[in-house]
Amino acid sequence: MKAWEIVPNSTSLDGLIPAQRPEPKPGPRDVVVRMRAASLNYRDHAIITGKYRYPLDHNTIPCSDGAGEVVAVGPSVTRFKPGDRTVSTFFQVWIDGLPPKNRKALGAPLDGTLAEFVSLDEDGWVPMPPSLTFEEAATLSCAGPTAWNALMNAGAPIKPGNTVLCLGTGGVSMFALQFARAAGARVIVTSSSDEKIARARSLGAVAGVNYKTHLEWQKEVLSLTDGQGVDCVIENGGIATLQRSFQCVGWGGKVALIGVLGGAQGSANPHDLMFKLASLHGIGVGSRASLEQLIQAIEVNRIKPIIDKVFPLDHADDAFRLQSSGGYFGKIVVTM
Ligand SMILES: NC(=O)c1ccc[n+]([C@@H]2O[C@H](COP(=O)([O-])OP(=O)(O)OC[C@H]3O[C@@H](n4cnc5c(N)ncnc54)[C@H](OP(=O)(O)O)[C@@H]3O)[C@@H](O)[C@H]2O)c1
Repeated sequence: MKAWEIVPNSTSLDGLIPAQRPEPKPGPRDVVVRMRAASLNYRDHAIITGKYRYPLDHNTIPCSDGAGEVVAVGPSVTRFKPGDRTVSTFFQVWIDGLPPKNRKALGAPLDGTLAEFVSLDEDGWVPMPPSLTFEEAATLSCAGPTAWNALMNAGAPIKPGNTVLCLGTGGVSMFALQFARAAGARVIVTSSSDEKIARARSLGAVAGVNYKTHLEWQKEVLSLTDGQGVDCVIENGGIATLQRSFQCVGWGGKVALIGVLGGAQGSANPHDLMFKLASLHGIGVGSRASLEQLIQAIEVNRIKPIIDKVFPLDHADDAFRLQSSGGYFGKIVVTM
């Protein structure tokens, strides 16, 4: 079968190479899926370019997110049958509650979804939402639970009338925008691009702040909320943006610490949170149960994931080049 591989110790997109792998055969508990689409996350790019937390020591198929059709199941499998449509879960396997110590993620260290066939334990798949196409469903596995857990499961869940601030217009932020809107919340986005802010507004954001032209964007956010601050920050920037997030979160609000987009430099002092009774929550993608929860929300609210561009498998390297450029909004998808 066709696949893509990341070579060990890769530090650039040259480390992403086309490969041939044997078609997987199911073990007793495995479900083999003919993949139809996979999507890219910031993490996948960071792994290929050597910016991830650890280097790869063997050729590894990238990407954690994907959707396809079951073609074979092992004799002990009870949850799926050939013909079913499925979506991969990010961790293999974290079903619910606190994460097990030995959970491993697709795309590193485990082989991922950028391949024609993927075989996983049956607990590593969920049924695909019937209202979505394969391309749309392939965007859910990582960014979906991350946004959902930040809004709904970390601290107090978002309520109607709350205000949510999403940093940037990538995959996590656009799911957060859509889920927050469905919950009745107002959404403010930050972006490096006025054009992307206009797109976010067309999806229901009430306002946007360009963080390139407003370096002190937290002041704009406070002004947009009449000095009250926001109820939740989707904190994709990390240590570089955290202090500003602490400043513009409101009374009893929460900052969901998700990303590292602003780089490793910066300093943040949680003192600002103290008298506001505000809180900081670490997010680590999420369990299968959280993916199933957001799929329910997608079905009920008829949410359609935001896809910027779709590439064929043979041109998956171009998909990563688009990601390098920063010139995308929402998700980038590869089809097989
Ligand atoms: N902790 C977890 O469980 C978890 C799970 C998923 C992702 N993440 C992390 O969350 C972050 C977002 O992931 P993603 O997959 O959504 O990324 P993505 O789709 O690649 O989106 C990145 C977007 O973030 C914006 N951005 C870049 N630098 C920024 C900065 N300094 N301040 C504010 N926004 C900035 C840009 O938006 P504009 O172009 O609009 O400026 C960019 O398009 C990444 O750091 C990723 O590693 C963490």
